[in-house]
Amino acid sequence: MSTTVGRLMGKSAVVTGAGSGIGAATAELFAREGAKVVVADIDLPSASVTVDRIREEGGVAEPFAADVSDEAAVADLVAFAAGTHGGLDILQNYASDRSVVTADVEVADASLAVWSKQLSVDLTGCMLTSKYAVPHMLRAGGGAITNVSSVVAWLPLAARPAYATSKAGVLGLSKSLATEYGKQGIRCNVIAPGHIVTPATEKQFSPAQTQVMLDHVSAPRLGRPDDVALAALFLASPDSAFINGQVLVVDGGLSAYAPMVPSFRRLAADG
Ligand SMILES: NC(=O)c1ccc[n+]([C@@H]2O[C@H](COP(=O)([O-])OP(=O)(O)OC[C@H]3O[C@@H](n4cnc5c(N)ncnc54)[C@H](O)[C@@H]3O)[C@@H](O)[C@H]2O)c1
Repeated sequence: MSTTVGRLMGKSAVVTGAGSGIGAATAELFAREGAKVVVADIDLPSASVTVDRIREEGGVAEPFAADVSDEAAVADLVAFAAGTHGGLDILQNYASDRSVVTADVEVADASLAVWSKQLSVDLTGCMLTSKYAVPHMLRAGGGAITNVSSVVAWLPLAARPAYATSKAGVLGLSKSLATEYGKQGIRCNVIAPGHIVTPATEKQFSPAQTQVMLDHVSAPRLGRPDDVALAALFLASPDSAFINGQVLVVDGGLSAYAPMVPSFRRLAADG
């Protein structure tokens, strides 16, 4: 393994949504850092591709098919990880159902089925995986849970109420977990990415919309999956041992400025 540094050496980790995008990058980075990773996704072939990449580098990983909104499947996932890798130290929740994104419309036209699907995967999934992971972490004397939210939780895009609400709910759930189990050594933090270029966002946003995102980022480029994976590594590792219940924004400064700044800049450019 060429790039192993070992910040997670010997740790057992579950990463959900790890067949694609940010979850895949996180699973690969964690394995390079010495973690034994269960790569969980509803799409087993994509999880297996991530595992193949990890094993090619000499890392330890197993694929597992699980729908995170299905309690029995989540129970099996956590039992598999704990049984295969001797416990569970790290939980990373990235699973998100992007198939409903274009059907997530203004509230007056909302479909209850779309609303429920989005919340059941993006929010309830985090609760269910935590429900089954926490007992293993308590037995081990601690653990690290990281849930992915989004800057959309407090800066919503128009007409994506179910997505914004699921990501806002992740904040409340994560702070609750941090409060409930912090004294017993379990930390729960949140990563809130801005626009990260992944297969999902390449499908969701047109080139013109992607350019708008770039115009609004206070950085020379858009985000990459590795930008989030590196933040996740910090939050999962002992380097962040005294950080609990917090939100780490990884957005290249997208949410750093007042909303009128682009208009002021346009006025200045127009003379
Ligand atoms: N990419 C971004 O710009 C961005 C920004 C903010 C937040 N996020 C969040 O980061 C996470 C990863 O985003 P991404 O862009 O890498 O998405 P992605 O679509 O590339 O990956 C999501 C993965 O989740 C899996 N999945 C879908 N439904 C599932 C289910 N029911 N159970 C288990 N797995 C399931 C998919 O198969 C896919 O592999 C998501 O939670 C997303 O909301 C992404």
